[in-house]
Amino acid sequence: MTASIPVFVAVDTVDLDQAHRAVAAAAAAGMGVKLGLEIFNAHGPAALRPLVPSGVPLFLDLKCHDIPNTVAGAVRGAVGAMRPDFLTIHASGGRAMVEAAVANAGDTRILAVTVLTSLDQDDLAAAGVAGTVEDQVARLAALARGAGAHGLVCAATEIAVLKARLGRDTLLVVPGIRPAGAATGDQKRTMTPRDALAAGADWLVIGRPITGAADPAAAARAIAQHILVAEANR
Ligand code: C5P
Repeated sequence: MTASIPVFVAVDTVDLDQAHRAVAAAAAAGMGVKLGLEIFNAHGPAALRPLVPSGVPLFLDLKCHDIPNTVAGAVRGAVGAMRPDFLTIHASGGRAMVEAAVANAGDTRILAVTVLTSLDQDDLAAAGVAGTVEDQVARLAALARGAGAHGLVCAATEIAVLKARLGRDTLLVVPGIRPAGAATGDQKRTMTPRDALAAGADWLVIGRPITGAADPAAAARAIAQHILVAEANR
């Protein structure tokens, strides 16, 4: 990993030309890239590995969730094909599944997803989960860390409590980031890059403010500058 700016640009497209532009913008600004299920399922690892130049940090957001034996094989396959720096799994797959993912990840760090932000308390109740979303996030976060996951994907509003409960060495990768004044789109609880890093985020995930800009490279540079100025003033 050689990025100097702790941001993964979310490449949420199946258009390979658009993906190339996003990766180029990320790399030029010293950022990494996040590839998710959409582009991975459309093109597969053979087409995607050449998209990301070596040295550009890669976050493979595949959110694996299956029986431990299958997740072990899926993680081995993804790690072997793509050599990502980070790979996601669902903490709700249980302790043995998380352990299987970690045991098969090699140098790739495993990040657990707790409760999808698309789910609310009524959705959890319908699935038989009592208590609040916050309780369930805390429960699954502790389960994942206890099973060896290196970190979590979480909302900016959860950073402080998760670092306090799970320790500073729990890596937190945080989406829902918006530069001041940027359109929030469908994100409800956003934070600026500077505030999320000050709150303790280790990496940020930023998509549309960069990929949806008229000039993605300029947008990425502006965000990198905003982060560097904040760091210099700290
Ligand atoms: O475009 P935007 O900056 O909202 O993109 C955020 C990225 O982070 C998307 O790839 C989205 O799927 C992902 N993500 C998220 N919220 C979560 C988990 C992942 O926005 N809770």
